[in-house]
Formats: sequence, C-alpha cells, structure tokens
Amino acid sequence: MIILKTVDEIAVMAQASRVVAETLEVLKKAVQPGITTDELDRLAEQEIRARGARPAFKGYRNYPKTLCASVNEQVVHGIPSKRVLKEGDIIGLDLGAIVEGFYGDSAVTVMVGQGSERIAHLVRVTEEAMYLGIKQAVVGHRLSDISHAVQQHVELAGYSVVTEFVGHGIGRQLHEEPQVPNYGKPGQGPRLQAGMVLAIEPMVNAGKSAVKVLDDRWTAVTVDGSLSAHFEHTIAIQPSGPPRILSQL
Ligand code: MF3
Ligand code: CO
Repeated sequence: MIILKTVDEIAVMAQASRVVAETLEVLKKAVQPGITTDELDRLAEQEIRARGARPAFKGYRNYPKTLCASVNEQVVHGIPSKRVLKEGDIIGLDLGAIVEGFYGDSAVTVMVGQGSERIAHLVRVTEEAMYLGIKQAVVGHRLSDISHAVQQHVELAGYSVVTEFVGHGIGRQLHEEPQVPNYGKPGQGPRLQAGMVLAIEPMVNAGKSAVKVLDDRWTAVTVDGSLSAHFEHTIAIQPSGPPRILSQL
C-alpha cells in the first residue's frame, strides 16, 4: 500500500530532507585528496545531530555508519573506513536523517580534486537522469514513466542502469512502497497521486549493469570494475505541476 502524506507530514519530511541537503553540502566541501571516508562519516553525524536530527542509516539493518561512501567501482552502500581519497576518485555520498519520526534521503556523486572529462560525463549523465525522472513525477502519470525516463537518458549516453537496487517510497520508514526501478516501459504501475513522497535514485555504471555485494555484506560493486555514479532526491508529488524536491536547498 502506498501511503499518501498530508501537507503537514510533508513539511516535516522537508525538514528532514533539508538536514540531509545541508549536510551533503558540508561533505562536498570536505571531499579532497587525503581525507578518509571515516572522517566524512564523523562529519556527517556531527552535522546531522547539530541540526537536531538523527542519522537514518546507523543501525538500519545493522548498518554501522551514518554515511554510505561509495568510491569508484563501488555502486552503493560503501561503508566508511580508513580509506584515503585520492585525486581522480569519484565518491557517492548517500545520507538519511530522521526528524519527528519522518525520513529524508539524498545522495550525490562528486569528483575528488580534478577528474577527467570522461568521469565528469558519467556523473553529469547520472544527475541529469535523476532530474528527468523527477520531472515525470506529476499527477496522472504512472510510476514507470519515472523509470523509463531515467533508463532512456542513461542508455542513450552509452551507460547502463543498475537493476538490483531501486528507489522507493519514503515516510515514517526509510523504505516504503512503491519500489521505483530505474528501468522499464512507460505507462505501467500505479498512477501517481498528490501526497506520494518518493526517493528517486539512479545508479549508473560506465560499463555493464551487473553488480555484486562484497563479503562485508553491504558494499555493492560493479562486476566489470567500471566506475559507477549515484544521485538521489526525496520528492513530493504536488496536486498540480512539478514535484517539490524536498532534499534540494
Ligand atoms: N540511501 C539508501 C537507500 O536509498 C539506504 C542505504 S541502506 C543503509 O536505500 F543501510 F545504509 F541505510
Ligand atoms: Co534511498
């Protein structure tokens, strides 16, 4: 069952999403050669708590940290560690926060120092795919219109979408119905309604689509070792017009 949110509930989710967005801004500035992903994790937790919110991922299915930090061929759910970032890496920063029992969830991918034009293109196409998906989140469309828009943009650019992980409804739980795949034919699935709040999150591989999970039981990596990028926003479908992007400052 897809839970529709009231205007008041969406206002609280906007607060949680704002905490995530502001924290991601701090983290983006901190990303530079020489910093460890553990240091980014500590900074993330500090910034979330300073805003009166709680980390959403820590303890979720026993996930140990506040931040998911996925470097290079890591797709999602990279666990922060003593790993030192170096010039030319890319890092996905995925973060969730809880305010008054409601979740916000967002992710960005950034380059560490100066990256190549080739890497910048993968990152740009992934972000564009997210916004093209978001644009489809209007009353009267169907869920897979989002999925299709994401997939089409990614594949026209010569990349592949990850199918093992999907976007999701979000609210009093981090993951609610419906699942929001990043692939599919248009015009399928439930009709979109005002009050639906969705996390739209394309994961895009430069090479083939296949991913596997490492022995740490969390870190998903590309099977072919190719680079992967990830963007995510929490959005609320409005009675008319484009969605409100709750995790955008
Ligand atoms: N941001 C991820 C998602 O959208 C959640 C990471 S799982 C966790 O599904 F364990 F790290 F929380
Ligand atoms: Co999510």
